Amino acid sequence: MNDGLACDATLRNDSDMPTIKVLPHPVLCPQGVQYEAQPGEVLCRTLLEHGVNIEHACDMSCACTTCHVIVREGGAALQAAEDSEEDMLDKAWGLTAQSRLSCQVQLRDSDLTVEIPKYTINYAREEH
Ligand code: FES
Repeated sequence: MNDGLACDATLRNDSDMPTIKVLPHPVLCPQGVQYEAQPGEVLCRTLLEHGVNIEHACDMSCACTTCHVIVREGGAALQAAEDSEEDMLDKAWGLTAQSRLSCQVQLRDSDLTVEIPKYTINYAREEH
């Protein structure tokens, strides 16, 4: 009987997988994007997997600010930023109290609404 398995999968989708809502960005996702992801996944990686080509100049090693996002809803449920993330964020264009580096954000089981700032400062590309 497969009914039990199908039911489990449905329940998991409804209850445990966070919905990530990305607000419209003029270049990266003009209509906005919404998708479900697995808890434990890295926000930046899930954005890329769902067609939002956010920059990630340092290859997700917390050494640039190009993956900067503003968590408009759901941020309180995330693990707090570490000092290294805070230090990099201080250099980000358009910094807000809800700013995070998406490569440092591990998803939990709560939904998120994120905005991608209009501009980025690409230190990794500009440093020589
Ligand atoms: S990709 Fe560089 S800090 Fe996230």
